Amino acid sequence: ASTLGAAAAQSGRYFGTAIAAGRLGDSAYTTIAGREFNMVTPENEMKIDATEPQQGRFNFSAGDQVYNWAVQHGMRVRGHTLAWYAQQPGWMQSLSGSALRQAMINHINGVMAHYKGKLAYWDVVNEAFADGGSGGRRDSNLQRTGNDWIEVAFRTARAADPDVKLCYNDYNIEDWSAAKTQGVYNMVRDFKSRGVPIDCVGFQSHFNSGDPYKSNFRTTLQSFAALGVDVAITELDVQGASATTYANITNDCLAVSRCVGMTVWGVRDSDSWRSGDTPLLFDGNGNKKAAYNSVLNAL
Ligand code: XIL
Repeated sequence: ASTLGAAAAQSGRYFGTAIAAGRLGDSAYTTIAGREFNMVTPENEMKIDATEPQQGRFNFSAGDQVYNWAVQHGMRVRGHTLAWYAQQPGWMQSLSGSALRQAMINHINGVMAHYKGKLAYWDVVNEAFADGGSGGRRDSNLQRTGNDWIEVAFRTARAADPDVKLCYNDYNIEDWSAAKTQGVYNMVRDFKSRGVPIDCVGFQSHFNSGDPYKSNFRTTLQSFAALGVDVAITELDVQGASATTYANITNDCLAVSRCVGMTVWGVRDSDSWRSGDTPLLFDGNGNKKAAYNSVLNAL
């Protein structure tokens, strides 16, 4: 195969990218994206501040732009994200307690109704665990509504659209020895044992020199999959874009039958949220980097 998407499809997997609505007018960008990928995650357009800028007033214009572009190019879409401590609109930031809990439920229902039957995956909850050694939850306005907020979000999501796969998504949960990884693992194990609806776990995989890729990522993917969830690499970027690291990560996903696909967090280095790290597979001129070839060869 000569593209990432076609190469991933040889083993029944997808290869995706984050797409930004604001770049869809850039033909160099859309040429690469349209050719290489077969899954799309809207980079910001389905986040809470974008879809419900005023309470109870939903706006799907940017989300639909990305969704429609993906469908026109034969690609599936991962929704991102319904409940998160960040990128909340001002009105939500100022809520707490039962009013915030109800607003979260209303938000999930409102957004999922619009995209019902259209998406492959939803990141229902994003980044709910704390960094560092506690293995516990991140403090946030949502967490302060009660520890059950995550399972309420997943139960609400299942009822809103029974056909989309429901994912928990987080960063720095790739290292099996990390307390944060174990905290998320224990939550997923608990959810599966109690019948809380969860179908998948997304490993963002933002790697950098301070928290580099480690070979036990494969153990992490295998351990979560053994709980009965699909796993995916959802926001991959690697500071410096080492070709070896990209190949290792690709091989880790391929080694786990329930690793359903990989998504890189942008097309060219110049599109990246951390462009200074040149972490992606295409350079700013749209040329394939060494990491591109190493991923394509591994797939
Ligand atoms: C980032 C986007 O790439 C930026 O454009 C935006 O300014 C901030 O958010 N984890 C996530 C993503 O789940 O939504 C974040 O995306 C990167 C970290």
